[in-house]
Amino acid sequence: MLLQGPNVALNTNIQPKILLFQTSKKMEVSSLHHKNQIFCCQTSSSSSPSQHSNPSLIGKVTPQVHGLSETIVGVLGGGQLGRMLCQAASQMAVKVIVLDPLVNCPASALSHHHVLGSFDDAAAVQEFAKRCGVLTVEIEHVNVDTIEKLEQKGIICQPKASSIRIIQDKYLQKVHFSQHGIPLTDFMQIDNIESAKQAGDLFGYPLMIKSKRLAYDGRGNAVAHSENGISSSVAALGGFSRGLYAEKWAPFVKELSVIVARGRDNSVSCYPVVETIHKENICHIVKAPADVPWKVKSLASSIAQKAVSSLEGAGVFAVELFLTADGQILTE
Ligand SMILES: Nc1ncnc2c1ncn2[C@@H]1O[C@H](COP(=O)(O)OP(=O)(O)OP(=O)(O)O)[C@@H](O)[C@H]1O
Ligand SMILES: [Mg+2]
Repeated sequence: MLLQGPNVALNTNIQPKILLFQTSKKMEVSSLHHKNQIFCCQTSSSSSPSQHSNPSLIGKVTPQVHGLSETIVGVLGGGQLGRMLCQAASQMAVKVIVLDPLVNCPASALSHHHVLGSFDDAAAVQEFAKRCGVLTVEIEHVNVDTIEKLEQKGIICQPKASSIRIIQDKYLQKVHFSQHGIPLTDFMQIDNIESAKQAGDLFGYPLMIKSKRLAYDGRGNAVAHSENGISSSVAALGGFSRGLYAEKWAPFVKELSVIVARGRDNSVSCYPVVETIHKENICHIVKAPADVPWKVKSLASSIAQKAVSSLEGAGVFAVELFLTADGQILTE
């Protein structure tokens, strides 16, 4: 699971029912322009008398964009997901600032403000948090101890540090989901060559060996095709000291993905199930909606919702799933 999915082309006709970042002012939606995907929001006290007395406006819909949220949403990371977040927030009139070390990071041009700095640097994150009403992340590989400290100081962090801690460690994630009854491939921690061979005996070959942390785009995965291949796979991942685990090979026919939005009130809402096609472990094509039977879509959505509901805090989560030939759905 990722915190947000890479390269996911969403069906933009479907609006999520959840606004992740609520404004302190009570707003009423005065008109919804589905064509333009613009929400026009108006505070209840803000209609101007001059507009009512202007005859040229009578009978016409006058989209007024008042109520720009004063809450600053701070994002750790300014990559492509941060950029998408800025785009979505802009439609909701929410100001987003990003912390990223790259001058030309993808989110830079669209953010309300770009603070140069590393999202892994505790001092930089703490300084950045002072400017934010809500702190969030666009990538799970952040310094979670810092976020936890900020939470203890009363800074609102979404999702919660506890969730980021689980998501950033793929092994912890598996343990967490299995404890919550979410279907997965079998897995076990491997600390040395003996336990890796044991995993091979239990799960068979090919055996998927993965780094617990700092993995993305397949960097962090190595396949052992036989017991003899274990050592080289482990070496390719930097050795057992990196923190590794083994996963049973998933005989999938398709990979599916569900984007789940979770609100601060814990309500969850799913985007349509999509199919993802990877090239060398990198998401290459997203087919939206996925061409799978209704029953599969429904199962995939309910598993994804259950997975996200087991975490704490608001956010937009991408749940990656395997579909097997017999119609089973397993969380990746
Ligand atoms: N147990 C498995 N069996 C078969 N193929 C797998 C298995 N686990 C992963 N894969 C393949 O490897 C790809 C990458 O795996 P995974 O999603 O775990 O890593 P990642 O994309 O690098 O990390 P993350 O999704 O956590 O950011 C998957 O999309 C899938 O094609
Ligand atoms: Mg993946």
